[in-house]
Amino acid sequence: MSAGSRISGAGWIPLLLAAIAGAAHAQEQQWPTLAPLALEADPERGARIAYTCTGCHGVPSYQNVYPTYHVPKVWGQNADYIEIALQAYRRGSRFHQTMQAQAASLSDQDIADIAAYFAERGEESPERGSSAASAAQIDAGQRRATSCVPCHGEAGIAQSSQWPDLAGQHASYLEQALKQYRRGFRSSMVMAPLVASLDDEALAELAAYYAAQRGLTSFGGE
Ligand code: HEC
Ligand code: HEC
Repeated sequence: MSAGSRISGAGWIPLLLAAIAGAAHAQEQQWPTLAPLALEADPERGARIAYTCTGCHGVPSYQNVYPTYHVPKVWGQNADYIEIALQAYRRGSRFHQTMQAQAASLSDQDIADIAAYFAERGEESPERGSSAASAAQIDAGQRRATSCVPCHGEAGIAQSSQWPDLAGQHASYLEQALKQYRRGFRSSMVMAPLVASLDDEALAELAAYYAAQRGLTSFGGE
């Protein structure tokens, strides 16, 4: 995506073309599967390095713009999944300009320490995610979620630490993530086929269901 990131104010067409080229490139290129780092981690050091990250991730109402969606909650998330996510941004197989820039300078040890810090759930009691969904959408999402249970659990707490918890995540972020898999902008051999045939309404219902569960927290504290 380096071509895309150099374009500024030149209109959306070149940007769009660069984005499509980037996505196609990501799909063509067979990235090796990422694994957790298996390093001894120091969550206290992680808290110090992650200080700048709280400016976005620690502010419950913070939104990404274009497209607009809530910055994901990361506290209480599974350490192995966070390690995989940060490695994906760092090597460029997961696209997001800010996050790619944030991850670019992190060493493996930094990533392991930050993941250990985020994974500590902190003092706060588990929250729901922000959402504007109706009770009917949440119910419909629960019915649809039967195919997700083997990995993401009955109520969005994952069965393996390499898979993300969805419980309590912001609905707009979950919806965005699902659309990214469907469009091929976020590559996952597991998730892409699962969402390929789902329409926007189905994705919104699934997001509504998981956001309504209690799980991830907005800020882990000190
Ligand atoms: C300017 C705001 C901003 C800052 C600063 C920021 N992030 Fe992010 N982060 C985001 C957004 C927006 C996303 C969602 C991107 C996407 O859609 O892939 C994200 C995604 C993530 C994810 C993936 C979450 C998931 O559920 O897959 C992790 C992990 C993460 N950030 C960690 C960090 C760390 C560690 C730092 C500091 C080194 C950091 N972020 C700094 C905005 C920010
Ligand atoms: C076979 C296991 C499996 C099944 C079944 C599964 N998922 Fe996933 N899911 C994963 C994995 C692995 C990832 C992380 C992929 C990546 O690195 O981007 C993921 C990621 C996600 C994310 C992104 C979370 C984040 O924090 O960014 C969402 C949302 C999601 N899945 C929703 C669903 C829904 C909804 C279903 C059912 C329709 C489902 N998943 C079924 C394994 C699974």
